[in-house]
Amino acid sequence: MSISLRVNGATHVVDVEPSTPLLYVLRNDLGLHGPRFGCGLAQCGACTVIIDGVAMRSCITPTSAATGAITTLEGLAKDGKLHPLQQAWIDEQVPQCGYCHNGQILTAKALLDKNPHPTDAEIRAGMEGILCRCMTYYRIQAAIKRVAHGAPASAAQGTASAAARGAPARSANGSDR
Ligand code: FES
Ligand code: FES
Repeated sequence: MSISLRVNGATHVVDVEPSTPLLYVLRNDLGLHGPRFGCGLAQCGACTVIIDGVAMRSCITPTSAATGAITTLEGLAKDGKLHPLQQAWIDEQVPQCGYCHNGQILTAKALLDKNPHPTDAEIRAGMEGILCRCMTYYRIQAAIKRVAHGAPASAAQGTASAAARGAPARSANGSDR
């Protein structure tokens, strides 16, 4: 079946079974490797994309149901400039293995687009269910606050708190690896 998808502002026509998970089409047909396969069961969030402003798990979204405007991680940077969340991810040295951060960044974007200045509790609620096996949750929250509040959650603080947890402080780009 021929299906038209709007992804990061461009229209693509793919020929797939309607029930094919959107994640497979994005990665295998369109070459967009921002969304990751983690669990395939809507449990981890690694496959998150934004469809019409809502963070969705593309591993369980049939391609035929993806009728809205789809944004993947690749669609965040504009004119060679990182999205503020991507920059904050670098400034706060958020990722460790990096696997979860497609879902973390896109979920944070959907959250901030709806609520530009969330409280800590609202950030935690909004990000719930996007799993990080490396436990970078505190740095994720610091990065979101940096964007939401122009915040002074400095890289030094991030590094210090990482060190306090015994985690290595790495430079990171918050994007696909
Ligand atoms: S791969 Fe989709 S939620 Fe885990
Ligand atoms: S799973 Fe490794 S950084 Fe989140």
